[in-house]
Amino acid sequence: MALSKKLFEGKTLGILTGGGDTPALNASIEAIKSRASVLGYNVYGIRKGWKGLLGDGDVVDLSFQPYDGVYGGTALRSSRTNPFGVKDNSRVEQIMKNLKRYKIDVLVTIGGDDTNGAAKKLYELEGVPVIGFPKTIDNDLKTKTIHNYNGKLIEAVVCPGFPSAAKGVAEFTTRLATTAESHSRIIVLEVMGRDAGWLTGSAMMGGAEISLIPEIPITKEKKVEFFEKVKEVYQKTKKHFLLIAVSEGVRWYQEKTDKVDVVYASSEVDEYGHPRFGGISGVIASEVEKNTGIQARAQNIGYYARSGDCRNYDKRFVGVLADKVVDLLLREDYGMMPVMSKLSTYQEIEEYHTSTIDMGNIGNQPLPFNYYDKKEFHFNEIYMDFLSYFIEKPKAIRFDYNFPKVKPLF
Ligand code: F6P
Repeated sequence: MALSKKLFEGKTLGILTGGGDTPALNASIEAIKSRASVLGYNVYGIRKGWKGLLGDGDVVDLSFQPYDGVYGGTALRSSRTNPFGVKDNSRVEQIMKNLKRYKIDVLVTIGGDDTNGAAKKLYELEGVPVIGFPKTIDNDLKTKTIHNYNGKLIEAVVCPGFPSAAKGVAEFTTRLATTAESHSRIIVLEVMGRDAGWLTGSAMMGGAEISLIPEIPITKEKKVEFFEKVKEVYQKTKKHFLLIAVSEGVRWYQEKTDKVDVVYASSEVDEYGHPRFGGISGVIASEVEKNTGIQARAQNIGYYARSGDCRNYDKRFVGVLADKVVDLLLREDYGMMPVMSKLSTYQEIEEYHTSTIDMGNIGNQPLPFNYYDKKEFHFNEIYMDFLSYFIEKPKAIRFDYNFPKVKPLF
């Protein structure tokens, strides 16, 4: 019996990745590509985000090509190019022209609020059939994922890329302990995440005992409390060392300006208007040393969180979200994005706890206050429960020495 024609045979689906990379991007591309191929689509990759639809276009054919969905980053490359980032409509016009020239019928945009927001605008203004796909290590997209903590329902977030990044941050922090311990030091670890503290919490899974997040500004008064807490926790630890995790976007009172402000690595902003954070750990470490008398050093984890292979949770997660993309394609329901609706463990995730949300104006979701103890300056057990859905506490092999002290003979 001859095989009947596939549903979308002769149609082309384009995929692009925009914004900062994550370890789960190639996994997402692979998951979408393989499902779209089964439906009969030719699958094209648009390189360097929206940039690949400007000028002459930069488009590659992914159909029938092997694809590594574990390898981190994005083989399609990424950029922060904004179709609406220029005053006139020239970029939008060029994108529309190229979508026709390459005969792309549906576009799947893998990105955060910026990339998917721009795609939604193209759908509304120009009628481009788009489907969004979430990604961010910052975990600040409003995915409306419900965390059931002993019957208490908390609106949380989980985006592909975050579980892998959180695991990396926890592992990195675990390693840092031996260095801090050897020098009886405080190490202030700076973690990416822009204006949200989600990722910083994963350092606590790796052994950080104090954390500062952008959601809680550190005013002049709060700073005094913070230094007191640092001294107290440091003294309490048997071996006298301490890891403090701080979000790159922490608002910190600065004596010089008499203002609570963030520390930027550069005053330049990208095409979506975002400045570049960086340097807060150095500022905090030197003030901690000055105010506590304990030696302190800064360490920026930086791109370590974003790089490397896709972890198991993310791999399964993006597969389940890609199944939802199939639903959207079949229903020709555009302008939408799949999300996880109920926090699920690795084992449960295949039970399809997913739904779809509008992909435009998703908005940024800060860390809910239920997850952080303001007085103790750390993430609480509810956040640890949230995190335990995706990662386990890294194994830290500790050499628990406690040598008897030798007294001199005279
Ligand atoms: O949004 C992801 C992110 O990694 C943020 O945590 C960070 O502030 C930013 O991107 C850095 O972007 P870039 O690599 O473009 O400087």
